[in-house]
Amino acid sequence: MRLAIFASGGGSNFQSIVDSTISGQLSAEVVLCVASNPSAGVIKRAETLGIPVHVLPPSFPKDYPGPDQPNELLQVLAEHKVTFIALAGFMKLVPGFLIAQYPGAIVNIHPALLPKFGGKGMYGRNVHVAVLENGETESGATVHLVDLEYDTGAIVLQEKVPVFPTDTPEILAARVLKTEHSLYPKALQIFAK
Ligand code: GAR
Repeated sequence: MRLAIFASGGGSNFQSIVDSTISGQLSAEVVLCVASNPSAGVIKRAETLGIPVHVLPPSFPKDYPGPDQPNELLQVLAEHKVTFIALAGFMKLVPGFLIAQYPGAIVNIHPALLPKFGGKGMYGRNVHVAVLENGETESGATVHLVDLEYDTGAIVLQEKVPVFPTDTPEILAARVLKTEHSLYPKALQIFAK
């Protein structure tokens, strides 16, 4: 499995996926990092690891590609012979052309127990704030297939973590993120096999 990882932030999930390919837990090769913005911390991680990086323009996904413009994303994915895509903290909607090119081969990780606390606006810290405001006693992480909506695709794997009354959004986010780091490689291995 030749994996491209799409990310917008610090890239700790990117790192844990690459680490699991190096340890042999995940039978895949991370061949490309796609960043949604030039200041994403994931870029530095990829460069340190010698993994090629493609940075998307601000027009992505709404006006992408522009009229008479080549689809550079599809080109770069083909160049690197990418067979599977993992979104890891990627904060943009996946356009239909990408889903059409990779049917059933794009997954996302979400920092809550979907179908609860998903959808537009439910990303990063917002998710954990909503979980705490709702008085939940458990949260977790979900890996799911990507379709044309936010967070609605079929669930691949899910893992729970407890929520404590003393939790802040930051404390809960850290607990969930730790779970994500082991859950995502496990979920990807299902497809690699
Ligand atoms: C992760 O918690 C991931 O689940 C979340 O962003 C964080 C990225 O962390 N993704 C979403 O909220 C997507 N809806 P990372 O950059 O350290 O991997």
